[in-house]
Amino acid sequence: MRLLFELLVTIPLVTSSLSYDPDQFADVDTLVRSRGFLFEEHFLTTPDRYILAVHRIRHPHLRRYQRPVILQHGILCTSREFLINSPGGSFDEPKDVIGNNLAFELAKHGYDVWLPNSRGNTYSRNHTTLDPNTDRKFWDFSFDEMIKYDAPTVVDYVLNVTRRPTVGFIGHSQGTTILFGLLSSRPRYNRLLKPCIALAPITVVGNSYTPYSYLAYLQLFMELISMYGGPFLPSNKLMKFIAAKLCTSRVKWLCSNAVFMANGFNEQQMNMTRLGVYASGFPAGTSSKNVIHFAQAVKSHTFAMFDYGDDNTREYGMPRPPEYLLENVNSRHLIVFLSANDWLSSEKDVDILIRKLRVPLHKRYVVPAKTWNHLDFLLGKDAGRYVNGPILTVMKKYNKFK
Ligand SMILES: *[C@@H]1O[C@H](CO)[C@@H](O)[C@H](O)[C@H]1NC(C)=O
Ligand SMILES: *[C@@H]1O[C@H](CO)[C@@H](O)[C@H](O)[C@H]1NC(C)=O
Ligand SMILES: *[C@@H]1O[C@H](CO)[C@@H](O)[C@H](O)[C@H]1NC(C)=O
Repeated sequence: MRLLFELLVTIPLVTSSLSYDPDQFADVDTLVRSRGFLFEEHFLTTPDRYILAVHRIRHPHLRRYQRPVILQHGILCTSREFLINSPGGSFDEPKDVIGNNLAFELAKHGYDVWLPNSRGNTYSRNHTTLDPNTDRKFWDFSFDEMIKYDAPTVVDYVLNVTRRPTVGFIGHSQGTTILFGLLSSRPRYNRLLKPCIALAPITVVGNSYTPYSYLAYLQLFMELISMYGGPFLPSNKLMKFIAAKLCTSRVKWLCSNAVFMANGFNEQQMNMTRLGVYASGFPAGTSSKNVIHFAQAVKSHTFAMFDYGDDNTREYGMPRPPEYLLENVNSRHLIVFLSANDWLSSEKDVDILIRKLRVPLHKRYVVPAKTWNHLDFLLGKDAGRYVNGPILTVMKKYNKFK
């Protein structure tokens, strides 16, 4: 049935497709090497035995690197989203021209760039004993486990390999959920992460207004995916092919509408010629449980652990799930990037987050473009000017810090 549907959709698309971009089906290593940077892939095993693929990018001609920096992607994304915004981004481009691909810009300026992949996405569908294709138990996780297991594993590993006392952390969207979860629950990471840059933060999300957040209120939809309990929107070859075809065809508005539905509409910042490149790796999959967890957050207006309902007492020893206490965050190196038109990370929610923190922000930066939306931080036409430039300015201040 599904196959039939996919075939019916594919045939007209194949015939209507226009031209190919060399980046369209390029994997992370191809993208990185095509820009002349050094590439490494590391496999890290978490305490609960998930295997995460972590990508490392460095300038090819340096003896000493600036501080290491971890770039943590958002939900349904991968490390690739930091590499694909624009063509170019080569290591030998002039330093004063700030390009659109954040990972390449940091590497060009001498930073040692690490790109983890969250459990369950295309690159981190891996476990020492569980098979993601057959073991339902593999998908029994949400952002709680990314906070508890993935993030500490990655940070400890990067510090160990680079032999540095601290590492920079830049998160986008769910990447900031992980960041604030980590800082509020594990005090020592407040000393280890410098600086902490949160792009479009997601912690308390009671005021987001993407059409998908209304799904949180659709009891039936939520019951269906919790009954199913497996992966949510994973990437497979056929869907990848269809998405890429659709997004380069004459009906590419269909494709952009699907992306915009989730992330907010901003035609001004979306490079329509490049839609095929963006769509060939997105969505990259997460667990249904993770989607349900975010839906719970939208409904409850709290930044709390997964709500097991009647089983909370068994799970946590209390009737309600414990909250991540933002007042426990104890870093003086927090920089928050937000925008007035972000559908997912609304200004109202970000200010609730900022009020809950007991420590002053190092900087609260509002992108000076009225229409700027959630995905524009990574894929906007002006991401170089409005996001990557200011990030490089912040990073530079930390070059002398231990
Ligand atoms: C799973 O991890 C191992 C390293 O432990 C790696 O060799 C293998 O390629 C990974 N498999 C996938 C499908 O990513
Ligand atoms: C750090 O690296 C050493 C060797 O390079 C290894 O034996 C040790 O287990 C590592 N520790 C962590 C936390 O990764
Ligand atoms: C839009 O994408 C096309 C194709 O990759 C590229 O040639 C062009 O430079 C991009 N425009 C901007 C503003 O990034």
